Amino acid sequence: MAEAKKSIRDKYPDIDFAKLPQHVAIIMDGNGRWAKARGKPRIFGHRQGAKTVRRITEICAELGIPYLTLYAFSTENWRRPREEVQTLMRLLIEAIQEEIDELDQNDIRLNAIGDIDGLPPATRHALIEGMRRTRDNSRLCLTLALNYSGRWDIVQAAKAIAKKVGDGLVAPNAIDEAYFSKHLSTADMPDPEILIRTSGEYRVSNFLLWQIAYAELFFVPVYWPDFDKSHFIQVLRDFQKRERRFGMISEQIR
Ligand code: FPP
Repeated sequence: MAEAKKSIRDKYPDIDFAKLPQHVAIIMDGNGRWAKARGKPRIFGHRQGAKTVRRITEICAELGIPYLTLYAFSTENWRRPREEVQTLMRLLIEAIQEEIDELDQNDIRLNAIGDIDGLPPATRHALIEGMRRTRDNSRLCLTLALNYSGRWDIVQAAKAIAKKVGDGLVAPNAIDEAYFSKHLSTADMPDPEILIRTSGEYRVSNFLLWQIAYAELFFVPVYWPDFDKSHFIQVLRDFQKRERRFGMISEQIR
């Protein structure tokens, strides 16, 4: 293990391993356009996109980044053509079944956020089984946002808190940001320090709205199937050059 750590540090000498983000969130965008540019059906792009998921999961585990959260299917994605939705749901099952052994062997925990009950039963079962198998793993928490949206997350937290207020378990005055955060689907995770969106679009598209309050945003102009480890490392380099002030002035954080 010490050897493996040494080699990854040697491979990226300009990365400061003491200042790695604890949580990276990614909006994986551009699978469809990547496929179209090659005269192929959109699903071909999604299949290729699944390979990128593998690469980026690998590099996060190698570097020792403990949380990676991927926007895999939004609440808005149900509006896509039926066939694309069905194929995406099948692809998800295949990807989980194909990768789960290796995830487990590498001490990676599969996790999901979103309205999981709204997924087709077969997808939900594959996901729940994958999460059950890997629940004790601790090197990296790989979270798939599925049937997820940031507003949904905030509303479901508000509902849960309203119920506690109604049941007399908490006083409205006792509700603060920390208490609210504990009711979001990301309750046990640190907020992401980095949000990446591929494909050159400049939007956050209803992803982790509360949690990205202080995240550094990176918009990378390559389609998700082409996003590789070197793009990811470049984001980390740029992140380490940025000054994060959290409302303070430069002198206060030095
Ligand atoms: C965005 O590209 C991609 C998605 C909405 C789905 C993401 C799915 C995968 C990467 C496949 C498998 C996932 C896992 C977790 C194994 P797009 O379709 O919006 O592309 P476009 O903007 O070019 O149309």
